[in-house]
Amino acid sequence: MKFINFLFFLFLSLSYYTSNAGEGMWLPFLLSDLNESEMRDMGLQLTAEDIYSVNQSSLKDAIISFGGFCTGEVISNKGLILTNHHCGYGQIQKHSTLENDYLKNGFWAMNHSEEKTNPGLKAIFVKYMEDVTNRIMAAANGAENREMAIQEEIAAIIAEQKNIDTYDHQIKPFFYGNQYILIATESYGDVRLVGAPPSSIGKYGADTDNWMWPRHTGDFALFRIYANRDNQPAAFSSENVPYTPERFLEISLNGVKDGDFTMIFGFPGRTEQYLPGVAVQQIMEVVNPARIAVRDELLAQLDRRMRVSDAVRIQYAAKYARISNGWKKWKGENLGLQTTDARGKKAKREAEFQELVSQNEAWQAQYGSILEEFNTLYASYQPHVLRETYFSEVFLSGLEAVRIAYTMKRFVENPTEKSAPKGLDEFYKDYNHEVQTEAMIALFELFANALPESEQPRAFVALGKKYKGNWAKAVDKLTKKSSIATEDPSKLLAGLEGDLDKVAKQISNDAFYQFAVAIIDEYLTEQRPASREVKDAIDALQTQYMEAQLNVFGEDKRFYPDANSTLRVSYGQVEPFSPVDGITYNTQTYLDGVIAKYIPGDYEFDLPKRLIELYESKDFGPYADTNGKMPVCFIASNHTTGGNSGSPALDAHGRLIGLNFDRAWEGTMSDINYDISRCRNIMVDARYILFIVDKFAGAGYLLEEMTLVETAADNL
Ligand code: ARG
Ligand code: ASP
Repeated sequence: MKFINFLFFLFLSLSYYTSNAGEGMWLPFLLSDLNESEMRDMGLQLTAEDIYSVNQSSLKDAIISFGGFCTGEVISNKGLILTNHHCGYGQIQKHSTLENDYLKNGFWAMNHSEEKTNPGLKAIFVKYMEDVTNRIMAAANGAENREMAIQEEIAAIIAEQKNIDTYDHQIKPFFYGNQYILIATESYGDVRLVGAPPSSIGKYGADTDNWMWPRHTGDFALFRIYANRDNQPAAFSSENVPYTPERFLEISLNGVKDGDFTMIFGFPGRTEQYLPGVAVQQIMEVVNPARIAVRDELLAQLDRRMRVSDAVRIQYAAKYARISNGWKKWKGENLGLQTTDARGKKAKREAEFQELVSQNEAWQAQYGSILEEFNTLYASYQPHVLRETYFSEVFLSGLEAVRIAYTMKRFVENPTEKSAPKGLDEFYKDYNHEVQTEAMIALFELFANALPESEQPRAFVALGKKYKGNWAKAVDKLTKKSSIATEDPSKLLAGLEGDLDKVAKQISNDAFYQFAVAIIDEYLTEQRPASREVKDAIDALQTQYMEAQLNVFGEDKRFYPDANSTLRVSYGQVEPFSPVDGITYNTQTYLDGVIAKYIPGDYEFDLPKRLIELYESKDFGPYADTNGKMPVCFIASNHTTGGNSGSPALDAHGRLIGLNFDRAWEGTMSDINYDISRCRNIMVDARYILFIVDKFAGAGYLLEEMTLVETAADNL
């Protein structure tokens, strides 16, 4: 018996030590403990202290959280920042007009005074991070109200910090509340647009190529941070000057080759690596199929109209991109989870867990029934999560008319200047009533068939009954006299310029408004709280399960916390992969591939003439590789997720070699189950960015403020 156990342990340790290098989003201040030696084995030439330090300038000082959901990095000592075109898309769009269509034609400020201000856009630097778990736990343990004790201690630590420095502070839970980390940040609020390529480069391949490798997109844009005369954060002012950073990234002209070390420094948003198998099964079998089903239908409805009308295409391009982005990711995620047998792996892991737990009395008492409880909880969560998913996909995010109607509730109940709905002009500019009506009919029908009646809002069931399941008729009646879901919003818009009480009264009598409010209110006050109750129990158990995994496996395995929009380092190698038997993907794409995909006049694959000319004359400047080819994108095994867009890809010396913007479709399940056999992040090659700025845009003066490094081949 002893012997068997020993073998079991040995097997266990080996299987964990030969873990996927590539997997993990690591805390930068723990690299020296957990990662430095592995990173150096893989080729890193720097120390952990060069990457993250609180005592000296380090690479982290060049990394910013950009605009709330992306990453960016400083690439000059004048505060120039690099991020993705799709991260700056909103800003580029806002500055665009029909005469100056920067989305279509690109934009390049030729001097500082031409750079464009973006109210509300922030660049946030991390100053330091500190583990405060012990203090939080000391306060929590034994407290009568644990959650309250934690919140109070968090507030106390932050208050103390205010006496020490002037940064912004927050304390975030990691490992589902098993670790707490204090994060001090400094936020710059004057960030200006400097340059962006035309969408035919920055968004080349659009939705068709999104999430795909091989990729040919130059997904980058340039911004600049401004500070006051003391180099401190300041709101926009014409007195502000370009920010002088503590650190900026050098850019390598050497490019990459297979096997090269790479790392990604940025703000990954959300992953779920430590779920039990039943949860993964629920995602695969319930949540993702529901999301995909709704979006299949919605995308088909939009696509049909966008194809035959330029006006509709322009109105719906950004919405289509958003809906399609999630839809395609979830399809890839399900495929990847199946292909890599995520369920089987979880089951194996859980058997090991249960075995180890059973050998330790204390563990057995504390953790012995966790997995069983998960089974019960997830089973009772199933109808809730199905309803949640359909409801939010259809009514909260899918049908824009329902959503906009509901946003008027506050105004209707208390009509004032302040509560009046904002941004309606913009909403209606991109609203096509025919398209929305067709989508509504299709999604109402889908919703009615997808859920048992008892799970549908009463007002929705009543509507269906009234028109005997004839949804076309139901929608027609509902919207016929509506001033909101309408072809002609002028009455509503004019009303809002006039007597507010009167227009509020009109809205409150609008059948479509009443319907939107009835179903969403019922959902928010009855159905969501019911789901929340089960979900809270699941979350509490997940906290316990995380603690159990850390304790039970912690001796043999290094753990990284799930992504939570905090600063992380991922590292891996430039490496090919085989998505299916018989195909292996290369790691690098070239301008030749861009040209091969060219479809003149197409909305996804058109190209600027100038780029074709440069290709034909092979006018690549110093940016071509040693074979004279112009590199465009490359892949590596860095573990990334949404939020890592705009993150720098750095080489072994910490120099920028690329700009992260996506993942390969076959590996999007990395959010749940990273697998090095197929998880790859996609980066624009730094040389392509420089080529576009210099040769394509003629904005070579921007390169003068950057530091470009080329190492002779024998020094590499
Ligand atoms: N798939 C990438 C990400 O998740 C890029 C999305 C932007 N591009 C697009 N065509 N929607 O954010
Ligand atoms: N495209 C994603 C982003 O915008 C990155 C990813 O999901 O890999 O952050």
